[in-house]
Amino acid sequence: MQYVLEDLNVSFICFVVFLVINLIIFALARGVYTRNQPCLLSSIILMNKLTDVSFCLLGVTGDDEFYFGGSVYAMDSSPSCSIGSHLDAYCPPSKRARISSSYAFSFNIFEEEKTPSIEVLPDECLFEIFRRLPGGEARSAAACVSKRWLMVLSSVRNSEICKTKNESLNDVDMTSSNEDLELESDGYLTRCLEGKKATDVRLAAIAVGTASRGGLGKLSVRGSNSMCGITNLGLSAVARGCPSLRVLSLWNAPSIGDEGLFEIAKECHLLEKLDLCQCPSISNKGLIAIAQNSPNLSAFTIESCQNIGNESLQAISRCCPNLQSITIRDCPLVGDQGVASLLSSAPSALKKVKLQALSITDFSLAVIGHYGKTLTSLILSGLQNVSEKGFWVMGTAHGLEKLVSLTISSCRGTTDASLEAIGKGCHNLKQMCLRKCCFVSDSGLAAFAKASGSLESLQLEECNRITELGIFSALSNCGSKLKSLALVKCMGIKDLVLETPLLSPCESLRSLSIRSCPGFGGASLAVVGKLCPHLHHVDLSGLCGITDAGLLPLVESCEAGLVKVNLSGCLNLTDEVVSAVARLHGGTLEVLNLDGCSKVTDASLFAIADNCFVLNDLDLSKCSITDSGVAALSRGEQLNLQILSLLVAPRFLTRAYLPCENSGKLWWD
Ligand SMILES: *[C@@H]1O[C@H](CO)[C@@H](O)[C@H](O)[C@H]1NC(C)=O
Ligand SMILES: *[C@@H]1O[C@H](CO)[C@@H](O)[C@H](O)[C@H]1NC(C)=O
Ligand SMILES: *[C@@H]1O[C@H](CO)[C@@H](O)[C@H](O)[C@H]1NC(C)=O
Ligand SMILES: *[C@@H]1O[C@H](CO)[C@@H](O)[C@H](O)[C@H]1NC(C)=O
Ligand SMILES: *[C@@H]1O[C@H](CO)[C@@H](O)[C@H](O)[C@H]1NC(C)=O
Ligand SMILES: *[C@@H]1O[C@H](CO)[C@@H](O)[C@H](O)[C@H]1NC(C)=O
Repeated sequence: MQYVLEDLNVSFICFVVFLVINLIIFALARGVYTRNQPCLLSSIILMNKLTDVSFCLLGVTGDDEFYFGGSVYAMDSSPSCSIGSHLDAYCPPSKRARISSSYAFSFNIFEEEKTPSIEVLPDECLFEIFRRLPGGEARSAAACVSKRWLMVLSSVRNSEICKTKNESLNDVDMTSSNEDLELESDGYLTRCLEGKKATDVRLAAIAVGTASRGGLGKLSVRGSNSMCGITNLGLSAVARGCPSLRVLSLWNAPSIGDEGLFEIAKECHLLEKLDLCQCPSISNKGLIAIAQNSPNLSAFTIESCQNIGNESLQAISRCCPNLQSITIRDCPLVGDQGVASLLSSAPSALKKVKLQALSITDFSLAVIGHYGKTLTSLILSGLQNVSEKGFWVMGTAHGLEKLVSLTISSCRGTTDASLEAIGKGCHNLKQMCLRKCCFVSDSGLAAFAKASGSLESLQLEECNRITELGIFSALSNCGSKLKSLALVKCMGIKDLVLETPLLSPCESLRSLSIRSCPGFGGASLAVVGKLCPHLHHVDLSGLCGITDAGLLPLVESCEAGLVKVNLSGCLNLTDEVVSAVARLHGGTLEVLNLDGCSKVTDASLFAIADNCFVLNDLDLSKCSITDSGVAALSRGEQLNLQILSLLVAPRFLTRAYLPCENSGKLWWD
């Protein structure tokens, strides 16, 4: 945009008008401060007789509440934004200081007289005036006058503002008077617009209000305003006002297209994080512009963007050497070409890669396996076109030397053979999570455990071909570093152990979590207890099949002393095993959850009161306890209880005892 005024006469008029506007703004600003709204309103009416007025009271910084509705500014193409009234006076609800109908009436009368006003000036003139306004405060006040003024103001680039010497002093005060705008610990102004608040007018107001402070550092838009959601206009205003934008996150912004990104690319060269989700109008053109102008881009996410494809990823791999993290999910145009170019670019800093629901094939995985030398974290999910060969090559290529964390979810290419290859190829792998991998069986799991010597944490979710035998051999075959095992909803476990297999124990395991595996019963638990003598944390929530006899061997074979025990939903457990836990592990037990163990009674509480001196969190919801049990807890003088949960007050309880003096929280329903 060129706003060069060649005609001297026009410049002179502009200057005179500029002075007048300064006076108006002075009055306006005072009006805002004194909140003397009726006065303010009438003074504006008297001074301006504006014809197209959308008036509101705005926070001094101009970036908060911007209420509008009546007169639709030309940029709001959607007619649904219009209410169609002639009255255009708006105030924030909290300050809605009752502009009486008589004022509204007089307003309309004045509107009828068409005398010359500053509104007849063309935008170019206003632009020249506005960029000379002294200080962000004056600009914010001017932005309150009308949507037209706001949009002209928001078209002033940050670099085009004629700064006065004292401006920085004003700005300090403005920051402190601002509530909504967060100043994060890293010193960036941050703003998140959600739902109905995500409109162009708000974005423009933010841009104008923050421009004098260098603009926003981080902007998130979570749009769902179907009537007047943000468009390229709003994003362009942000680009002009916020040249130091570092983080841009746009979710659900169907009207944002390439033009908006062009403006961002042109003005914001410091961009470090870009996050686009459900932006169907953005295509490769916009992203390529960003890539070419954002050398510092380090994190990049695209999700459900139908028009972004291989070319964008190629441009990013060419232009952004600092890229450290990429997430690509559900983008139908992204194929092997794009993913491969991202991963094979020469001086790579890439650490985290997440690929989800893409139509990439074995080729991409082979490239990851060969070139992913800097990768530390890899998540592969829902890759339906990758076969066993792809995963096998990824493992055997021996490129993933630094990989620490790997998650594979819903990929039918993960089989016993490919899993073993991954175990052999990734020497540094510490965390492994397999989710919904229905082709992995016991032998594959055991081979993987044997091959991956650095493994510290193994999580298996909904891997239904794996049985308890696979778990046992994984535990006894894994290296000496495995600390944590979690099984969630593995339906293949059936508790059919007839004889205890001869296995070497897993001395390193500290945390065992078996959640919602209904088949996991006493026989399996006994074996696990023997295999893992040094457990600290045991979570068996939702194992409704286990009984006292099943759990006792594990409780008895734990040598190290249990610290956290979660038995929520283990319906068949009774006082016998809870007392054993209290007796054997009272010296170490800190957290005990018995939520839903309806067979647990006061006898357990007596044992707890007598033995558990470091217990600080006890959940007795839906247990069959009575007053005397709780009273026993409250008498246990050495008890250290801080949280006691009794949600759904037990029917036996008639009076509430506070268990002990230092009880911090008592949950009661
Ligand atoms: C700048 O601020 C100083 C003191 O804060 C004041 O004396 C001076 O008049 C101001 N100058 C302008 C141009 O506003
Ligand atoms: C990129 O970031 C580095 C360090 O964070 C900084 O020194 C450099 O100036 C930035 N480059 C650009 C173009 O902003
Ligand atoms: C992206 O690359 C893949 C694989 O190279 C190719 O099949 C696909 O057609 C490409 N998509 C576009 C939009 O060019
Ligand atoms: C991916 O798999 C689907 C069906 O599973 C198939 O229709 C499609 O052609 C495959 N795409 C590629 C690139 O192989
Ligand atoms: C115990 O398990 C339940 C159910 O999985 C969970 O909601 C709860 O947070 C767990 N409690 C602790 C202390 O881990
Ligand atoms: C465990 O409890 C369930 C439900 O209360 C019951 O159906 C089942 O028979 C019990 N199992 C044992 C072994 O007691």
